[in-house]
Amino acid sequence: MKAQILGVGHALPERRLTNQDLERMVDTSDEWIVERSGIRERRIADQPTKCSDLAYQASVMALERAGLSAQQLDLIIVATATPDMYFPSTACIVQDLLGATNAAAFDLSAGCTGFVYALDIAEKYLLAGDYQYILVIGAEILTRILDYQDRNTCVLFGDGAGAAVVGKGSSDYGILSSIIGADGSGAKYLCLPAGGSAMPASLETVQNRLHYVKMNGPEVFRFATRITSEISTRVLQKAGFTYNDVDLFVPHQANLRIIKTAMKRMNIPAEKTLINLDMYGNTSAACIPLGLSQAHEEGRLQPGDLVLMVAFGAGLTFGGILLRWGRD
Ligand code: UT7
Repeated sequence: MKAQILGVGHALPERRLTNQDLERMVDTSDEWIVERSGIRERRIADQPTKCSDLAYQASVMALERAGLSAQQLDLIIVATATPDMYFPSTACIVQDLLGATNAAAFDLSAGCTGFVYALDIAEKYLLAGDYQYILVIGAEILTRILDYQDRNTCVLFGDGAGAAVVGKGSSDYGILSSIIGADGSGAKYLCLPAGGSAMPASLETVQNRLHYVKMNGPEVFRFATRITSEISTRVLQKAGFTYNDVDLFVPHQANLRIIKTAMKRMNIPAEKTLINLDMYGNTSAACIPLGLSQAHEEGRLQPGDLVLMVAFGAGLTFGGILLRWGRD
C-alpha cells in the first residue's frame, strides 16, 4: 500500500510585480535581483483576495483532476505562514468553501517546508488506515507581510497556491520515502517578530515595522545550500535510489543559486529540474505543489517518473519526499 497523488492544482493572482516595478519602490535594481536570486517577477494578490481564496481555487482544480468530490475528503491540511487569520484555521475556511463536510481540517506551520511536512503527514494518516482521501494545500499571500521598505526581503517573495489530493493505492506508484526535520536554533534567522503571544500587537510594534518578515539572508542561504543536497541524498538512499534515477527534481524556489548548487552537487541536469522562481519568486509553502501542477500541465510528469521534492524554510525546517509519479 502506498500514498499516491491523485490530482494536483494551483492558483496564481493575475497581477505581476516586476523587478522594474520594485526599482521604483525600493533601493534595488533588476540586475541585482536577477544576479543574486534569479527572480524576474512575482504575482501579487489584490485585496480582498485571501489565502483561503487561492487555496480554494487550487483545491477545486486538484479535486477535478483527481475525479473526486469535496464530500469524499476525510482531511484537509493547509500549510501556510499567511493564514487568513490566527484562528480559525484557514483549512476550516477552505473546508466550508469546498463544502467538504466530511473532512477534518487543520493548518500546519513549517514555513516554506510546509507542503512537504503536510504530504508526509497525509501519507502517515493514509497508511494508518483511517482515511481514504486527504487534500494537502500549500497557500500563501506573503506580499501582505512584506516590508516594501526592506530590500533584503521584499524582492524575494510572491503569492500563490498549490494543492494535491492524496489517496491510497496498491501499485508501485506513490511515495517511496520521506524525511522531515528541523533545527530550531535557527528560528531567529527567519521570522515575523510581532503579533504573537511573545510580542502582542501594539502601536510600538506597528511603528517599529515588526509585523513584517525579518530574515538573515546569508544564514538561511548557508543552511539551504547544505541541507538541499544532504536531504536529497538521504531520501534517495532510504528508498535505494541514486541521483541518476531522478526524472524530475522539484526544489524549493528560494534562490536560483541554491538550486544550481544542489544540481551541481547531485549532477542533475537542467532538463530534469523544475525552476519557476523567475516568474513567481518564492511562494513559500506553495512552491512545490505549484511546480508539480505546472509540470503536470506541461506534460513533464509521466506515470513511473521518479520525482524528488526538497524544501527548507522558517523554523528552520527541512524535508524531502521521493515519489513514483502515477496512480492506480
Ligand atoms: O524560503 C526560505 C526563505 N529565504 C531564503 O531562502 C533566502 C536565502 N538567502 C538568499 O537567497 C540570499 O541571501 C539573498 C538573495 C537574500 C541575499 O543575497 P546575498 O548574496 O546573500 O546578499 P547579502 O545579504 O550578503 O547582501 C549583499 C549586499 C548588501 O549590501 P552591502 O552591505 O554589501 O553594501 C545588501 O544590503 O546586497 C545588498 N542588498 C541588495 N542590494 C540591492 C540586499 N538586498 C538587495 C536588493 N537590491 N534587493
